[in-house]
This record gives sequence, C-alpha cells and structure tokens, in this order.
Amino acid sequence: MPLVSMRQLLDEAAKGRYGVGAFNVNNMEQIQAIMEAARETQSPVIVQASRGARSYSQDKFLYHLMLAAAELYPEIPTVLHLDHGNSVETCKSAIDLGFTSVMMDGSLMPDGKTPSTFEYNVEVTRQVVEMAHAKGVTVEGEIGVLGGIEDGHGAGGTGLEHVTDPDQAVEFVEKTGVDALAIAIGTSHGAYKFTKKPDGSVLKMDRLMDIHKRLPNVHLVMHGSSSVPKDLQDTINQYGGKLKQTWGVPIEEIQLGIKNGVRKINVDTDNRLAITGAIRKVFMETPEKFDPRDYLKPAREAMKKVVAERMTQFGQAGHAGDYSPISMKDMAQAYAGKTATK
Ligand code: G3H
Ligand code: 13P
Ligand code: ZN
Repeated sequence: MPLVSMRQLLDEAAKGRYGVGAFNVNNMEQIQAIMEAARETQSPVIVQASRGARSYSQDKFLYHLMLAAAELYPEIPTVLHLDHGNSVETCKSAIDLGFTSVMMDGSLMPDGKTPSTFEYNVEVTRQVVEMAHAKGVTVEGEIGVLGGIEDGHGAGGTGLEHVTDPDQAVEFVEKTGVDALAIAIGTSHGAYKFTKKPDGSVLKMDRLMDIHKRLPNVHLVMHGSSSVPKDLQDTINQYGGKLKQTWGVPIEEIQLGIKNGVRKINVDTDNRLAITGAIRKVFMETPEKFDPRDYLKPAREAMKKVVAERMTQFGQAGHAGDYSPISMKDMAQAYAGKTATK
C-alpha cells in the first residue's frame, strides 16, 4: 500500500487503544530492520527522519528507500514522518518531498535549542497545519520542552525544567488544530535520562493523565521514550565501549501512558545502542573481518529485535491488517470539511 498519513494510523490506534512506535532512521539497514520487525509482528509503523538524518542521507535517498519499503511490504501501513521540524520551511521541504506527516517543534526556536514563547509556537505550528492539511499531511506539535541532547536538537537539562502546562496544551490545540501533541513530562532525548530507575512521580504521569482528561480526542506523543535496557549497555561495554550506567523510561510507564491517550512513542536511542553493540561485538571477536556486511547484518538484526519487542509492548502488533488506506487526497478533502474521515 502507499505511504499513509499518520492521522489515519493514530485514529486507528485510538480505536484499538494501543500505541504506535515511531522509530528514527538514517540509512537503509535501519529501514529494513523496522520493516522486517513490522512484518514479523504484523504491525502498522511510523518511520521518522530528523533534520540530521535528512542531511546525513540526502533525504531523497531516504524517501526512495521508503517507497521501496512500501512496495516490498505492501501489507504494512507505513508512515514517513519528519521528526522535530525546526521551522515552517523545513516542514514545507519535507511535505514537498513526500513525507506523509511532519512535526513542527515550535517549542524551541529554529536553532533547535532555545525555548520559544507560547505565541511563537502557536504561530509557526498554525502555519504548518494550514499548509500540511491542504495536502492531507498530518501535523504533530509540541508544548513544553524536553531535556537532553546538547549538541543535536534539544534544550539540554533534565527534562523537568519545562513540563507541559495543561491549560497551555488546551489553548495550543484549539489555536493550531494539530493532529498529535507531544508533551513534556520529564523525559529527555538520548541515553542519559535518569541516574536511577524513575517512578511515575519522576515522570509526571499525573500531568499526562490531566492533559488526556482535558483533551480526550488528541493523540498524545511521548518523545525521549527509549528504555535504555541494561543488556544493551552491557553489550557495548563488554566489547570495548565506555557507557556510564544509565536508566531510560520503563516500559510499564509507557504502557500506563498508552492507557491514558499516548498513541505515538518515539524511540531512537535503544536502536542506536543495539546497532553499536552488535558492530562492536564483530569488531572485537573477529578483528580480521572487513566486509561491511559482516557487521551490518548483525547490526540490522539487533535493531529488528528491539523494534519487534517494542511493537509487542506498545500493542501495535497484530494490527497491520486493520487498515484500508485513505489516500492523501482524501485526507486533504476530509480536512477541508468536504468528507468525513473514518
Ligand atoms: O530527537 C532526537 C532523535 O533521536 C534524532 O536524533 O537529531 O541526532 O538525528 P538526531
Ligand atoms: P530517545 O532518545 O529516547 O530514543 O528519543 C527519541 C526521540 O524522541 C526522537 O524524537
Ligand atoms: Zn524527540
């Protein structure tokens, strides 16, 4: 089936009360790992590319790889989503290329680091919604600011400095018309999220529940949702890596989120760890090898295993067959109020 809008996936997920993992990609092997995991678990899936990924890969390569994925895995409803768009122009270029969903992260200024004002966030997000919906493309906005990632996209800090204000979340949705809303509840990007296992109060799950009660029809998004499993950290360190011990978001907290309106869960770091561990193992155990396939194959397999596990944990497994794809044109008409979405 063709690439579908994220709105369709999230509406379907809301009906089934499950979550959908959104996995970051930069290259062919990561796309293949996700698609294989989706086939194995019969899951609908969101594949996402950040600005960094688009520039690393020259995004046309990524786009055509995604067309190949849709052709080779016709039974899997697949979304191509822009992760953390930093400006209206960035979102426009993704839409022009063929992304079926974009995130306008107006919680930060275009530098991707400086927290913005509420008014700025509303204005840029509203503009993206207008432009995207005219083409049937889904829009995710963000209110509140995540922590982490000083050198890439992110404000730094612990993730607790700018937790989402529920009143602002309601006003933001009313003023922008976003399809999905990323909220800040204490998570942060990257591997170093927590120095011990966090509980529901560290993660501000009560805040999430409050927002869901006030916006029951908005699809909530949890960023920074890697669980950073100890076994993946251990493998890296066993084979010469130097990670400090760290904790991610426990799966049971994500599952509690899914019970309370979370429909999209962003995972990148866990896959980075899985890939790195697998490659280090080959390099340490068989230093005589130099064919990239000798380490990229196990790396792809390791990522597939993590993704398939998350798909099962988030509840999307088994739901690939529930969809008859709605074309982007029909989505655009639905947004224009001419026809109703299912
Ligand atoms: O939001 C962060 C994602 O993990 C993507 O990271 O900007 O380094 O590609 P990146
Ligand atoms: P992690 O760093 O926890 O994988 O978060 C990824 C993310 O939120 C991408 O937008
Ligand atoms: Zn993110």
